[in-house]
Amino acid sequence: MYQVTKAVFPVGGMGTRFLPATKAMPKEMLPIVDKPLIQYAVEEAVAAGITDMIFIIGRSKRAIPDHFDKAYELEAELEARGKTGLLGLVRNIVPSHVNCIYIRQAEALGLGHAVLCAKPVVNNEPFAVILADDLIDAKQPAMKQMTDLFNYYQCSVLGVMDVAADETSSYGIVATQPMTSELGKIERIVEKPKPADAPSTLGVVGRYILTPRIFNHLENIPYGAGGELQLTDAIARLLHEQQVLAYRFEGIRYDCGSKIGYLKATVEQALQHPELADEFRAYLRNFCI
Ligand code: G1P
Repeated sequence: MYQVTKAVFPVGGMGTRFLPATKAMPKEMLPIVDKPLIQYAVEEAVAAGITDMIFIIGRSKRAIPDHFDKAYELEAELEARGKTGLLGLVRNIVPSHVNCIYIRQAEALGLGHAVLCAKPVVNNEPFAVILADDLIDAKQPAMKQMTDLFNYYQCSVLGVMDVAADETSSYGIVATQPMTSELGKIERIVEKPKPADAPSTLGVVGRYILTPRIFNHLENIPYGAGGELQLTDAIARLLHEQQVLAYRFEGIRYDCGSKIGYLKATVEQALQHPELADEFRAYLRNFCI
């Protein structure tokens, strides 16, 4: 019986949709209220029992290692001022049993390439991939729902949701053989098809559990859509030799790679924030009349 103990976070993208905010800072460091997107993603992995966080970082991404590192000067300053609450916040970004591992992706050659960069660390184990700009708010964290499934089925699992028919060209789209209302066996997967060519409207969002066999395919597929090494193309080959499941997770997904999705996540998280919720709700009521 395998368990998922490693998660890969591809954080090497350019974040062009958020320029100039992302000129010198990775988009995964954009905050939703008071926490950067990447921290939500890591917390989701921790809640799923994952202990090794593997970040695939590009240039201008030093803020991510710095965020998960010890901040001596800041901690000393907060301690001297007796700010114990804040000190706890910055000290406990990740629990002490969690390892953060950084791999530099010299060129941004696509999601598939980023995942392949993790091979020397992942080795021959199943692993998770989490795209931090897909923020998922759920009672039970989405990756935990997926590791529970993995523990039972011992095969690759992709997080999916219904997307609008005119948005298929923004997603990997799957055709499935339904098993239950939430779960199906994937029969086909296509990267960003036009609506007319899409096999369904079931889109993959940024949550994957993959068996290590995916690396063989990533090493052998040609560069695909957009001249990038596509994870979807490697999964399409994996399907021919192993079962791959599509799972409609429970929860709300925000596309924080887009400005509108980012704004929706910000408003909705602020409305759940213990310090802000009441005041912010009152403000919105007045503002929106
Ligand atoms: C990537 C994947 C795509 C997936 C999407 C989820 O695309 O290539 O298959 O549906 O993430 O967010 P990107 O959004 O990076 O272009």
